[in-house]
Amino acid sequence: MKRLVIALLLARVFSIMNAQVESIITCPGEDCATQVNVSWAAMEEGTCVEYALASWPEALSYARPSCENQCFTFDSISSKRPNGENFIETPVFIKCGTTLSGLTPGTDYLYRIMRDDGTPASEVYSFRTAPAAGQEWSCCIISDFHNYTPLPGRTRAAMDMLGQVEKYDPSIDWVLHLGDVCAWGGSWSFWVDLYKHPYFSKYMWAGLNGNHDNMSRGYEKCTSDFFRDANYVPRNGYKGQEGVCYHFRYGNAMFVMLNNEEMRDSTGFDAAAQWLRKVVTDARRGSNPPRYVIVCEHYQWFNGVNGKTSQYGRWSKIFDELGVDLALSGNNHIYARTDCLYDGKETDGTRGTVYVQTPSADNERGQDMDSVLTYNQDLIKYRFTEGGKTVGALSMKVNDRRISLTLLDRNGTHLDTVEVKAK
Ligand SMILES: [Fe+2]
Repeated sequence: MKRLVIALLLARVFSIMNAQVESIITCPGEDCATQVNVSWAAMEEGTCVEYALASWPEALSYARPSCENQCFTFDSISSKRPNGENFIETPVFIKCGTTLSGLTPGTDYLYRIMRDDGTPASEVYSFRTAPAAGQEWSCCIISDFHNYTPLPGRTRAAMDMLGQVEKYDPSIDWVLHLGDVCAWGGSWSFWVDLYKHPYFSKYMWAGLNGNHDNMSRGYEKCTSDFFRDANYVPRNGYKGQEGVCYHFRYGNAMFVMLNNEEMRDSTGFDAAAQWLRKVVTDARRGSNPPRYVIVCEHYQWFNGVNGKTSQYGRWSKIFDELGVDLALSGNNHIYARTDCLYDGKETDGTRGTVYVQTPSADNERGQDMDSVLTYNQDLIKYRFTEGGKTVGALSMKVNDRRISLTLLDRNGTHLDTVEVKAK
């Protein structure tokens, strides 16, 4: 009898271990009014998503994973434990992802990951679909918090900052991140730890690949596979960038997410530019053209220290040509923004692109700026940093007349606002 009890207990422990699910994140679907993607990692096959309207949780639907592959991307990577000890991470798991489709616009949903035996394998997650065209929506924009398990204060600072954005705008629908959410994207334990923060079960997160997300410790391995396999974004990127570069529609706005790490040389840049031209042109010619086109990448438009031109120099002519309304980036850890620019000059807002780059948010890896701009004094309208210990993020509110971006500091103090007029 005693043996039987021990055997049953062991079997129970074994099944819990085997059916473990981690690193769950809600990513955008191609059209967030009706589609949302869910990404998770399971220790074995045989899991699915159970979801329902938040207003009617008894009416359950199920989605099988459309991706359910063994993933070795993060195997044998040099890393650190939370106590600072060096170790080699060897996670091998089943990478799962699926698209929940046929959803109702502007509606709150709940979901959880289930095992095929009908037992839940996760907590309950929530998200809100994008509203139908014409209705207002809002999000938080944050970046560069470099989650690093030996220094949990970094992500705590970022999550507290998100709380300030929520206080400023309690109606935020989702979170947009502009990269460097992990210190070393190759360290699987950093993603698992990050996605445990409650804001990841509360909101959909749309993000892009930053240089830190792209690297393992000491640059031993650099690949956008880390970003791809820690998320499940729409597979509508160009060749070699499926699951990394992508575009999605949120209400009246089209977002195009670029990967700087693939644009270091002119061949890579040209491939990205060609794809951007194609997807923006196709969307504009489609049956439901976007009111706004928003392009996001990790590397900054300007060096916030002195104002020197960075990626603005590479992209501005193409953004002029395509009528990009808003260009968002991170990386520099210094907030900088322009008013509406066209052909290298400020306009009255009826033509051109507004360029905004986020500050860092981890209270640790910021940098100082020169008190006076040496370059682009005529273009850069506002900068913000708190030096090494910088924390800031933005609230973005969007309706059919304008996009309004507000920079907040860690106390929720409103520092700067810029408006992007609908054209
Ligand atoms: Fe960064």
